[in-house]
Amino acid sequence: MTRPRLVGFSANLQRPSKTRALVEAVAEEAAVHAPLDLRLFDLVDAGSGLGAAWNREALPLPARRVIEAIEEADALVVGSPVYKGSYTGLFKHLFDLIPPEALAGKPVAIVATGGGSRHALVVEHAFRPLFGFFSALQAPTAVYGADADFRDGLPVEPGLLARIGQAGAEIAALATHARGGLPGLQAAPSARLAAGAR
Ligand SMILES: Cc1cc2nc3c(=O)[nH]c(=O)nc-3n(C[C@H](O)[C@H](O)[C@H](O)COP(=O)(O)O)c2cc1C
Repeated sequence: MTRPRLVGFSANLQRPSKTRALVEAVAEEAAVHAPLDLRLFDLVDAGSGLGAAWNREALPLPARRVIEAIEEADALVVGSPVYKGSYTGLFKHLFDLIPPEALAGKPVAIVATGGGSRHALVVEHAFRPLFGFFSALQAPTAVYGADADFRDGLPVEPGLLARIGQAGAEIAALATHARGGLPGLQAAPSARLAAGAR
């Protein structure tokens, strides 16, 4: 059997990137817990044509490749820098081009970085509602890192490292056990429920 494919996507506009480093750290931690096929993409891979594409048909090839990798993944680690208190506009734009059924039941670990810790709850208040819309299977632990939690571009703060480890273990378990096992958006009520049984 092929390994479950874990795709990391980071909405950084520049490299090096703390967000990309955090997404990569969670994905690599997941691979410690389970045999996974890891792929990592960011907005630099998607190219500037992503922002100019108002629908799927208008997507240039590099952006299309990133979106298709996200849709075809068995599980995701998604991240964005915090811009003006939320995920970046291009992060949302990319997911606006993905149909809801493509992420339904798909395990997703959430990652964000910001300049300080003031916006740490952005992972709960902005990212979770977005992936709730998609009916994605969200890992319980979301990871937020502030500038001070990094040294030489890599996460070093012990609390952050603990959350990376926890999120990595969770997404590995979800990627392994939820593979093809969730009903997605097509689940119908059972005959018993439809008949009004109590
Ligand atoms: C336009 C812009 C808006 C930002 N807004 C916020 C913000 O609201 N809160 C915050 O904590 N950091 C904010 N930052 C800082 C970035 O979130 C932070 O530096 C982030 O870690 C950069 O990620 P990267 O290294 O992956 O590019 C902002 C940065 C930019 C460029």
